[in-house]
Amino acid sequence: MDTRTILPDRIEVNPSFMKQLKEDYERFAEEGLPKEVEAYILDHYKMDVSSTYAGHFIRNPFGIASGQLSTNIRQIENGIEDGLGFIILKTVISQDPRGDSGMDAWKVNAPKMVVEPITSKRGEEGYTVTWKGRGWHKSFEEYLTLMEQSLELWKTSNTPVIPSCKFHLPTEEEDGFNVAEYQYTLNKLYEVWEKVWGDIPLTLEKDFSPTLAGSSLAKSQQMILWWVTHVPEQIKGLMGARGINLGIKLMNAMFDDAFQLEVLETAAKSKADYLVCFNRLFDPDKEFEGKQGVAYGGYDLSDRNLKIIHQYNKKHGKQQWVKQPLSATGNIESGKMMVEYALAGCENGQIHSYFQWPASEYAMKQGTKVEKSLHELFFNPEKGLLVTMRYLEEKELLAPKNGVLYFKDICQHSKINQ
Ligand SMILES: Cc1cc2nc3c(=O)[nH]c(=O)nc-3n(C[C@H](O)[C@H](O)[C@H](O)COP(=O)(O)O)c2cc1C
Repeated sequence: MDTRTILPDRIEVNPSFMKQLKEDYERFAEEGLPKEVEAYILDHYKMDVSSTYAGHFIRNPFGIASGQLSTNIRQIENGIEDGLGFIILKTVISQDPRGDSGMDAWKVNAPKMVVEPITSKRGEEGYTVTWKGRGWHKSFEEYLTLMEQSLELWKTSNTPVIPSCKFHLPTEEEDGFNVAEYQYTLNKLYEVWEKVWGDIPLTLEKDFSPTLAGSSLAKSQQMILWWVTHVPEQIKGLMGARGINLGIKLMNAMFDDAFQLEVLETAAKSKADYLVCFNRLFDPDKEFEGKQGVAYGGYDLSDRNLKIIHQYNKKHGKQQWVKQPLSATGNIESGKMMVEYALAGCENGQIHSYFQWPASEYAMKQGTKVEKSLHELFFNPEKGLLVTMRYLEEKELLAPKNGVLYFKDICQHSKINQ
């Protein structure tokens, strides 16, 4: 199957369910979401929307992806308060004990972001966020402080907040990894982790970014595949007995679909514990604020990501889907899109752009962008999570257990039945 989506354009379900959902959608647009929205959904709709991120329980599948929405503790506090399932911190750049970084070019301070409409190749209209920044630009020590405060919040709120890091990547000309950088950075991240979580293995995302995909570092396919195999090996080896629950956030490389499938196949065989599929696309021709070449999203991104995961699933057959848990990212702009990714096997969705769409795109007029988004993601009567789960039930693609439908069953069920 090469197509991106499984669900129909228009979702139709039982009219009395629709009536209840529309009433709630309109009421919550005025009043705001109930405080314990997941409990409300369980109670009134008999749906359990909880899931997991890298084995950690999450109350719902929607999280903030690493980036500009997770750079300070206020954003983290607010995100948890507003009801997110999880948050990935901004990506920090690894360094050695002297503060030197092989990936120094990724420490960029460029806060200006522009949310622009973007039409996909298929003609679907969405939005993309354009900027010229890259990774964390403040000091490593400041990142460690943010990480510690965030882990404390995770502990008290039960909402996972996960650090993200970009490590040195050798070129073909270089002689392997800068081990001192890996060692120093991992030791420091682990020290903070251990303070809060004791000897539970550190959970960490390793980012391969779109600007990396578009850079001269990533011109060789062989090199990219080497990184995807050896970076997890390197990190796991250095963590040794302390252990690490390591995710790799894969980039969309600047090559064709066949190569992207090879990237996923390589990652699936790597030592990574979970995979994030896939970071944004890169347009080498677009210019922004004097910078040539920027990352972009929108429906081309979700089309590409879903297509590649489905190609993998089809090629490898139902018993051999990617063995590691999958986390989705890329244009998750509705509960329905979350379900598309879940049908491909993803357990949760990391969102950046949708939390920044123009205010006119949300029915809720007060509250934060995250609250407005969650209102749509759950309750939108045409493309929310609840109507889509109900649709799956009516089509006998999702069966209730003791009268309750489980979001988590979508990815597990589809793994068994496709
Ligand atoms: C402004 C901006 C900054 C980002 N910074 C990071 C980052 O530091 N690390 C990372 O792994 N991904 C970063 N991303 C990628 C997002 O985490 C996300 O995976 C990607 O944008 C796809 O999701 P979306 O379509 O919902 O935006 C950034 C995205 C945007 C728009």
